[in-house]
Amino acid sequence: MKALVVYDSYFGNTEQIARAVGAAIGDALAAQADVLTLRVGDVKPEYLAGLSLLVVGSPTRAFSASPATKAWLKALTPNSLRGIKVAAFDTRADMNDVNSRTLTTFVKLFGYAAEPIANSLTKRGGVLVVPSEGFFIKDKEGPLKDGELERATAWAKQIAAQV
Ligand SMILES: Cc1cc2nc3c(=O)[nH]c(=O)nc-3n(C[C@H](O)[C@H](O)[C@H](O)COP(=O)(O)O)c2cc1C
Repeated sequence: MKALVVYDSYFGNTEQIARAVGAAIGDALAAQADVLTLRVGDVKPEYLAGLSLLVVGSPTRAFSASPATKAWLKALTPNSLRGIKVAAFDTRADMNDVNSRTLTTFVKLFGYAAEPIANSLTKRGGVLVVPSEGFFIKDKEGPLKDGELERATAWAKQIAAQV
């Protein structure tokens, strides 16, 4: 069984989550799974061949996924994910830490990266196996908030249980 975790990351926080997710899926599925964790720019189209599980994660940038993630998702052809199990995550600011009414209003209106990523994946035939998840950073360059790597591991175990 082939699984792929695709991520983008500017400051390394989303990469840390992606690696924790890949490792937890690998641990949970042990010998049954061949799990690759790759930066979005390193994913070749042929990597999707024979894939059973695809997890995509991005930093939230301007209420959306990063440009590289969006471009990669857009390039996926219709039905290219048919029957593949999928999940999506992002890293994001915790609005409890943000002292701006305008920003919190914008976030309520426009949200984060994970949901639109999940929508792109399901639009191409992917089957969403767990609710999308957001992992919190302390500041825009990180680090991750305490406990987020553990939360990512727990989320990944839920994914592995669906495969
Ligand atoms: C230009 C820019 C735009 C951002 N926009 C958002 C946003 O709309 N919502 C949010 O929650 N965080 C936002 N952030 C914080 C990022 O989500 C944070 O930098 C990211 O989670 C760090 O992940 P990385 O280390 O993998 O790049 C933004 C950060 C930058 C630098």
